[in-house]
Amino acid sequence: MTFNIVVATDLENGIGLDGKMPWLLKQELAYFKTLTLTSKTRNAVIMGRKTWESLPDSVRPLPGRLNIVLSRHFGNKYPKEVLTAPSLEEALNLLNPRTTDQVFVMGGGQLYAEAIRHPSVHTLYLTLIQKKFHCDTWFPNYKENFVLKAQSEPQKESDLTYLHQIWTKKN
Ligand SMILES: NC(=O)c1ccc[n+]([C@@H]2O[C@H](COP(=O)([O-])OP(=O)(O)OC[C@H]3O[C@@H](n4cnc5c(N)ncnc54)[C@H](OP(=O)(O)O)[C@@H]3O)[C@@H](O)[C@H]2O)c1
Repeated sequence: MTFNIVVATDLENGIGLDGKMPWLLKQELAYFKTLTLTSKTRNAVIMGRKTWESLPDSVRPLPGRLNIVLSRHFGNKYPKEVLTAPSLEEALNLLNPRTTDQVFVMGGGQLYAEAIRHPSVHTLYLTLIQKKFHCDTWFPNYKENFVLKAQSEPQKESDLTYLHQIWTKKN
């Protein structure tokens, strides 16, 4: 199965600080929710263990989506409806194309670094925040291998401006 990547970055590919997002943008989170929930059947989200841990209890597992958490260590406890896998490849193998519509890799930095180079990645949904933040986690370089297909009008929220972009893998 092909998969998508969804991410919000600052102007220097920054995505995280101290295990959290460096910004709080409620409308941007709503965009993420709509994007990952819209489906004929059900979508799946794949995330690294640290991103899972960064989610508030109130929203995890992310409702209406199959949640898959990647970890190389067994023993962590997850709710029974959450699937776990020791690699991205094994996570993709868990998916049944008849019951899963779209697949979204949703971070964080370690998982993005692998996913962006994976042969099955197709579309990158990138929200580009027009500011530099202090970050300790980054999104990998993507511009050599992806082409910009669409871009929203500038979105304003709080004192920030951002663009929703859709990039697809070059052939
Ligand atoms: N801006 C955004 O859109 C966005 C989105 C998501 C996350 N974030 C931010 O990113 C940061 C977290 O990123 P991170 O790089 O520190 O951690 P991460 O990628 O979320 O999680 C890393 C952990 O996930 C597991 N893992 C990752 N890739 C794996 C693979 N291919 N196979 C098996 N296990 C794998 C490992 O768990 P084990 O150690 O258990 O083996 C690894 O230690 C946070 O600050 C978060 O807020 C930002």
